[in-house]
Amino acid sequence: MPKGSDVDCVLKLFSKMQLAELAILRKLILKHTTPSGSREARIHKRNLRYSLMLAFYNTLSLINLTYHKTPKGGGNHFAFYGRYRIAKEPCFLNVLEIYRRKIRLVIRGKRELESTPSDAFYQSYFYPLKRVIKDFSCAMISQRENIEKTDSLLDKTNGEKIFQADATNLKEIESLSIDFIYTDPPYGAKIPYLDLSTMWNVWLDLPVDSSLKEKECIEKGGLEKSREEYHTLMIASLKEMYRVLKFNRWLAFVFQHQDPQLWQILVEEAQKIGFEYVGSIRQDNGQTTFKKRQFKASVLSGQLIIYFKKVQNPKTLAKESLGDDIAALVLNHIEALIARDDGASLEEIHAEITIKGLELGFLHELSKNYVDLTPLISSNFDLDETSGKYHIPKGQKFKSHTIPLELRTKYFLLSYLRGAKRQNKKTYFDDICLEIIPLLKNGISPSKALIKEVLESIATPMQQSGEWVLKGQKAGLFDEMDLL
Ligand SMILES: C[S@@+](CC[C@H](N)C(=O)[O-])C[C@H]1O[C@@H](n2cnc3c(N)ncnc32)[C@H](O)[C@@H]1O
Repeated sequence: MPKGSDVDCVLKLFSKMQLAELAILRKLILKHTTPSGSREARIHKRNLRYSLMLAFYNTLSLINLTYHKTPKGGGNHFAFYGRYRIAKEPCFLNVLEIYRRKIRLVIRGKRELESTPSDAFYQSYFYPLKRVIKDFSCAMISQRENIEKTDSLLDKTNGEKIFQADATNLKEIESLSIDFIYTDPPYGAKIPYLDLSTMWNVWLDLPVDSSLKEKECIEKGGLEKSREEYHTLMIASLKEMYRVLKFNRWLAFVFQHQDPQLWQILVEEAQKIGFEYVGSIRQDNGQTTFKKRQFKASVLSGQLIIYFKKVQNPKTLAKESLGDDIAALVLNHIEALIARDDGASLEEIHAEITIKGLELGFLHELSKNYVDLTPLISSNFDLDETSGKYHIPKGQKFKSHTIPLELRTKYFLLSYLRGAKRQNKKTYFDDICLEIIPLLKNGISPSKALIKEVLESIATPMQQSGEWVLKGQKAGLFDEMDLL
């Protein structure tokens, strides 16, 4: 049991009678739904088991020692308190009656879905998906095997379309394949979902191990995660949502929190990733007041839905096709050029970036996706009409601040060494510093010691001449650590 529980094991959450009745009920469900016979019969049994277990799961919530009646009618169980709290006066309900009631609710739910306009729910559920689900046979993360293959479940209409995955690493989902995302993430330290699901998981045979807990976006919880860890996980999931969403599609992000600072962080991070913030709408059961309708973007009480859009513009397109770092580095390079020469013309920028693209091996991607760099340049820099040169927009911080100094240094070092090699020029440490320090003056400049350190990671000095030579033909811009 999780920390803070009144009892130390799940068995102690039930009276002997409750345990016996629930165990018999569960056994009967499993016995009568064991798949056998033809393919159709097996599928039928499997679906029956899911439905009966759903009703069983809902029965469990009321048949345990945490459940008690409330003065106003109805009752509460442990989840209401956010921890496993044994009731002072537990309420003992009739298991059979409760189970019947829950079955009726499942049936009612199914009827409702069946009668959606033109059978929309089942039509879309059984619609074969393309480029989305990779090959796995079961719905749980721990049962996932080869997920490198796409489309293998294409024709299996009973394939797992609702499945467990890690929002911070949606490897089962192809990039640019999703039409709409609706997400209702956990909010900070509000509710420890995985801890609270212990009782149900035990009865439903759902494995919850520490690796799953590590993935949970939460503050505190069983692993006592810090607020920073929570933010990091939320940002990772925003990045993944951005990756899988198609261009010009929407993300609806439920925000159930009273903390304006968290709202700020999420919106800013989403924007950094490339989302456009569209607006926040208050979601209410009843009618909202006029005032709240008027100020919907600033009202933070209750539940908000934040809408983001993945817009297609030169910058996001570059990010998508070149990867985060290369797009940022291209911009950084233009910026460095402008800073070094106090302005640069379109031709100068084009020439420089083409050479860099060639030297660093991204020209192919660049020219494939960027027939013309002009839109990217004009949307990020100011043009001085008289000189025909681009400048950093007034009052704007250098974008390169967001790129780690070490990576920027590595970029320029590599490009210098590659260029020198192409021109058969010898490269000595002092020359290297003289060449690259001016390029790095936008933002914080690296120390000579840092340049040396980075240089050593990509090149070796010749014993006698002191000349620096690239380590291998394949010395790339990124090593694995850079990409993390
Ligand atoms: C606010 S609840 C969603 C409740 C849901 N909308 C409903 O009505 O039942 C947030 C959910 O996110 C899940 N969660 C936390 N971290 C996750 C992660 N890394 N990947 C996927 N789900 C995660 C939690 O376990 C919890 O079930």
